[in-house]
Amino acid sequence: MGFWLVLLFTLLTCTNLSKSDPSDEACLTHLSQSLKDPANLLQNWTRSNFASPCSGFTSYLPGATCNNGRIYKLSLTSLSLQGSLSPYLANCTNLQSLDLSSNQITGPIPADLQSLVNLAVLNLSSNRLEGEIPPQLAMCAYLNVIDLHDNFLSGQIPQQLGLLVRLSAFDVSNNKLSGPIPASLGNRSGNLPRFNATSFEGNKDLYGYPLPPMKAKGLSVLAIVGIGLGSGFASLVLSFTGVCIWLKVTEQKMALEEGKISSLMPDY
Ligand SMILES: *[C@@H]1O[C@H](CO)[C@@H](O)[C@H](O)[C@H]1NC(C)=O
Ligand SMILES: *[C@@H]1O[C@H](CO)[C@@H](O)[C@H](O)[C@H]1NC(C)=O
Ligand SMILES: *[C@@H]1O[C@H](CO)[C@@H](O)[C@H](O)[C@H]1NC(C)=O
Ligand SMILES: *[C@@H]1O[C@H](CO)[C@@H](O)[C@H](O)[C@H]1NC(C)=O
Ligand SMILES: *[C@@H]1O[C@H](CO)[C@@H](O)[C@H](O)[C@H]1NC(C)=O
Repeated sequence: MGFWLVLLFTLLTCTNLSKSDPSDEACLTHLSQSLKDPANLLQNWTRSNFASPCSGFTSYLPGATCNNGRIYKLSLTSLSLQGSLSPYLANCTNLQSLDLSSNQITGPIPADLQSLVNLAVLNLSSNRLEGEIPPQLAMCAYLNVIDLHDNFLSGQIPQQLGLLVRLSAFDVSNNKLSGPIPASLGNRSGNLPRFNATSFEGNKDLYGYPLPPMKAKGLSVLAIVGIGLGSGFASLVLSFTGVCIWLKVTEQKMALEEGKISSLMPDY
């Protein structure tokens, strides 16, 4: 009797262990649907493997690493992946490292990533991501790497990211970002790791410390002063000419009147 109970218990535990995690399954299924893999380098990224991707520490999915039966690392770099990032990535709630760098992924960075409360590394560099950097990333309190360099990201850098006190690497260079660099990132206080100009360069309309002052700005100020002075001078010349013409015309009129008057007047 005891033996059967033990066997039953073991069976139950085993089925429990091999049972899929529904969150990870949703995450992987949607990610594989939103990404495109034209070079077919993600073999084994098949539906049957999403249900139970982990066997101990190893994973049947190339690029995925497991811990306690959950995906904790996704590293799919330089695979010519296209498509976009599924918001369901947020269902991989044990994820500590997400590295999809050096692909051709388009579309926005989903704000839903804020649910990844264990995330320490976010490397989406060298892709074709567009849209704004979601300020919600500041909710991932353990983030210590945000590498978004070489994309098409636009808008301002959210100052909320400065709240991430563990941040030791931050790179948004070579995007289409604009506006001022928040002091919370450009000029970090206390003993927080500081980021130099290399983290911010290559964004045409981004300005502020630690980037060097924009030369173009200085030129345009000069140009504005030049235009102002020039137009001032032109209007001066114009009004002067105007006054001259007016004077000439009235002079002629007066001469004419004088002539009329004198012709009407009898000669004395
Ligand atoms: C995935 O996440 C969404 C919202 O974050 C949640 O509503 C949904 O239940 C999750 N799905 C699974 C299977 O965990
Ligand atoms: C692919 O997945 C199967 C299980 O579905 C596994 O037996 C096999 O080892 C995996 N191959 C690789 C290269 O991971
Ligand atoms: C992000 O990935 C790129 C390319 O794989 C790598 O060169 C870079 O060092 C990574 N960034 C960080 C901060 O580790
Ligand atoms: C950086 O911050 C310090 C103090 O927080 C301040 O004194 C300094 O002026 C700031 N530098 C720039 C370039 O904004
Ligand atoms: C900027 O910081 C990076 C490390 O974050 C370092 O490798 C690089 O040498 C620094 N560049 C300058 C000009 O200080």
